Amino acid sequence: MAYPVTLLPGDGIGPEVIAGAIQVLEATGVEFEWDEQEAGMTAFEKTGNPLPQAVLDSIERTRLALKGPLTTPAGDGFRSVNVRLRQHFDTFANVRPAKSLPNTQGPFDGIDLILYRENTEGLYAGIEYFDERNQIADSIARVTRRGSENIIRYAFQDAVRRGRKRLTLVHKANILKKTGGMFLAIGHEIAQDYPAIEFDDRIVDNMAMQLVIHPDRYDCIVTTNLFGDILSDLISGLVGGLGVTGAANIGDDCAIFEAVHGSAPDIAGKGIANPTAIIQSGEMLLRHLGEIAAADAVAEALYAVYAEGTNLTADLGGPSSTSEFAGHLADRVVKKMAAQVAA
Ligand code: NAI
Ligand code: MG
Repeated sequence: MAYPVTLLPGDGIGPEVIAGAIQVLEATGVEFEWDEQEAGMTAFEKTGNPLPQAVLDSIERTRLALKGPLTTPAGDGFRSVNVRLRQHFDTFANVRPAKSLPNTQGPFDGIDLILYRENTEGLYAGIEYFDERNQIADSIARVTRRGSENIIRYAFQDAVRRGRKRLTLVHKANILKKTGGMFLAIGHEIAQDYPAIEFDDRIVDNMAMQLVIHPDRYDCIVTTNLFGDILSDLISGLVGGLGVTGAANIGDDCAIFEAVHGSAPDIAGKGIANPTAIIQSGEMLLRHLGEIAAADAVAEALYAVYAEGTNLTADLGGPSSTSEFAGHLADRVVKKMAAQVAA
């Protein structure tokens, strides 16, 4: 049976890296029925609507999406389609692992962090006001008990599932006494239910410094939306950059898989983007579907290609184009799957 999955190639480097991800996912032999849809700037320029109803209808049906990055204009212009999708389908947990691969020129080896970002509220709630006359701008951070419980409980559950040891809650409750204060208090409440996980908390500015100096001292991190956005790019930088960090947006009955990175307009259309991050998101999709052998084959093949080090993309100093990298990796995946069948 083929899995129905909504496919959003997205903007900028999106279509280039998504093509690589499809090639690698299909190399596992798992069958997908891709329902391809346009969203973001590409859809806006064609139809005047960055989030057409057909996209919502498709994900409503499949409850699964593989998504390329979508461009969001800064300042004026339409609201982020990424944020709208996360809110609409209540994918409250944005899971962003950062794990060292060989030959990625990151400043450290052996990094293995997972960041859980609250994905639907906080400063991204979309509650903004502009008082034109007095030139005063307000952005309201909305933190709810329900949203906080959802993400914090998910982080504990996922940490247990993955056999992790420690969860650090990151906040700014010293200054943001209401929003940060409630998030922190709920963290301490829920921690009571998970005695096997060591729980602690850090103030976000200190955490940014700690992660740059001693990333090895941390394991899992849970935080609110804006801090999670920033710290997930920071931990990407620890393991070789945005080209190598996949992610997943998870809700109770819907999941949208996308990379941490954006549409990278500076390199779009050149065929040189690193598709690893979206391929790692694809690996998370396979795991989500229970296709563990296929997911393991993708992870092992990725590791092997990085260990070999001769077919990497330009962001990591390698000579390969996006499609060369993906083709090489897909060949490895086919071999891994064949070896599994033989064994
Ligand atoms: P970006 O993540 O697109 O790019 C930051 C830097 O990382 C650039 O130098 C880019 O070339 C590099 N980079 C990113 N992905 C790469 C890859 N796969 N391989 C090699 N290099 C890569 O962030 P930026 O420039 O701040 O945002 C560009 C646009 O993307 C904006 O419109 C933003 O709103 C949107 N965006 C969308 C996201 C999403 O759809 N989930 C996430 C982040 C940004
Ligand atoms: Mg971001």
